[in-house]
Amino acid sequence: MKALVAYYSETGNTQKIARAIYDAVDFGKDLKKISEVEDWSGYDIIFYGFPVQAHSVPEAAAAPIAKIPEGRKIAFFSTHGSLRGGDLPKQAFEHALGLAVKLKVLGHFGCRGKVAEKIIDMLLKSPQHAAWGEEARGAIRHPDEHDLADAKTFAAQMIAKINI
Ligand SMILES: Cc1cc2nc3c(=O)[nH]c(=O)nc-3n(C[C@H](O)[C@H](O)[C@H](O)COP(=O)(O)O)c2cc1C
Repeated sequence: MKALVAYYSETGNTQKIARAIYDAVDFGKDLKKISEVEDWSGYDIIFYGFPVQAHSVPEAAAAPIAKIPEGRKIAFFSTHGSLRGGDLPKQAFEHALGLAVKLKVLGHFGCRGKVAEKIIDMLLKSPQHAAWGEEARGAIRHPDEHDLADAKTFAAQMIAKINI
């Protein structure tokens, strides 16, 4: 069996989750940036990670999904500034699902990730976005050790689904 953990990350949060998932895999595995994956075939499971941007999957992570061969098993993971379990990260996952219609989606994991200071400053300056700016600021210590432990549990759950 072989797993690929592929991720896109701008400030390192999604990369931390990718590393935790990679560490939880106890068989053949590769850990790569999405931009560095040349061959998407040959994997029994692909963990595919991205940061939520504008309630969605950033283009750098959205477009390459089309390169994954039809029928492959994929498990998405993402980090986001907004609260865990909220509607916004769910929207991004729904976007990912729409891009993966030819794939077998085993599941999805999401957790908070520290939002870049410049983004928070920008949000706080706009009355329309100030509340979201405050929420984003609350992600400052994430991903934390609990998030990493949850990501490992998620990896084990997805692996258990490979042969179902
Ligand atoms: C341009 C931009 C847009 C973002 N939009 C959202 C968003 O719509 N919802 C959200 O929860 N977080 C949003 N975030 C926060 C990121 O999803 C979060 O900080 C993430 O953990 C960054 O991951 P990375 O370090 O792997 O790039 C945004 C961040 C950036 C830079």
